[in-house]
Amino acid sequence: IDELLAEGVVGKRVFVRADLNVPLEGTTITDDGRIRAVQPTIEKLAAAGARVVVASHLGRPKGAPDPAFSLAPAAARLGELLKTDVAFATDTVGESAKAVVAGLADGQVAVIENLRFNAGETSKDDAERGAFADQLAELADVYVGDGFGAVHRKHASVFDLPARLPHVAGGLIATEVGVLKKLTEDVDRPYVVVLGGAKVSDKLGVIDHLLEKADRILVGGGMAYTFLKAQGHEVGISLLQKDQIPTVLEYLERAKAKGVEFVLPVDVLVSAEFPDLKTKAPANPTTVAADAIPADQEGLDIGPETRKLYASKLADAATVFWNGPMGVFEHPDYAEGTKAVAQALVDSPAFTVVGGGDSAAAVRILGFDENAFGHISTGGGASLEYLEGKTLPGLAALED
Ligand code: 3PG
Repeated sequence: IDELLAEGVVGKRVFVRADLNVPLEGTTITDDGRIRAVQPTIEKLAAAGARVVVASHLGRPKGAPDPAFSLAPAAARLGELLKTDVAFATDTVGESAKAVVAGLADGQVAVIENLRFNAGETSKDDAERGAFADQLAELADVYVGDGFGAVHRKHASVFDLPARLPHVAGGLIATEVGVLKKLTEDVDRPYVVVLGGAKVSDKLGVIDHLLEKADRILVGGGMAYTFLKAQGHEVGISLLQKDQIPTVLEYLERAKAKGVEFVLPVDVLVSAEFPDLKTKAPANPTTVAADAIPADQEGLDIGPETRKLYASKLADAATVFWNGPMGVFEHPDYAEGTKAVAQALVDSPAFTVVGGGDSAAAVRILGFDENAFGHISTGGGASLEYLEGKTLPGLAALED
């Protein structure tokens, strides 16, 4: 983006593909980290006299307008952060978007509505995506790719649009890629990876790859129960991906052969019921050993012994990558595991990277100072796929 700014952008319509996919409760943004992360790029462009057109997806609407997924709250928050009026187009490439963009003065910013309200954005059909990209291209003179959280998606605004306009990477993408490079080349050891979140299937690729790179892998969250089951433990009604058990077993064997330490929970908090995340009514969980989960109960967080164990396994790390919460942190009775891992990262002198929409939001929602971490990534799936060594369409499109 520095080259673009040096060339001059006065009066140019600059399309910024951001990732404003923020967590919402109704129309209230519960974590604005992703908006703040792209703010400097937008500010620089506006200060340089560009007419800035910000675009993003939010959630997974079904290719048609759906008020529950409107970007209006994100546009309003962006305006508050920029301390200026941000225009909002109520469609993506229709009359509203055209009028709003045409009405921009130099240095002004607009947000267009959720890109996924148009089926062309996510289509698997190249022609359909291309047709939408053609329409988006009419709104701008230059493309700035800065939605790091979406670079793993082969979507019209991420992959096809840059081919139709002069394009550069924004500052956020440059920072994110710089950090992830540090985790893939010449890593300082011990390199400890903490993986959580609901689904083991989302993490298989990265585990496969990290078995060649990491010294220690700590597992928590819903995905831990598939590992515990693979080890022959009963997991009651906990989250379980039975079809993944053979792969998980193979990984455990490979870890052993390679001397990679694989650490699983030794105790968990269980309950017969999933907690009410709206009322946050007390859930009264009990703590049981990880090999003694009652048949009618589900594990919802790592237990106190596991918290201590994981903190000790993180204490001597030189590099840490953490993706995925350790439990249902949105409920106070199941937040301690995620808090303990976050605290261990804060206390550690290691270079710490928190990757992922959920874990990044978790550390902020739980009240941690984001500056206490080496880097909090705005990309969940994107940072995992980068670490898997995959080619990311949104980065490839910016490279040529
Ligand atoms: C994310 O939240 O990881 C990004 O915004 C991408 O969203 P998606 O998984 O719906 O494509």
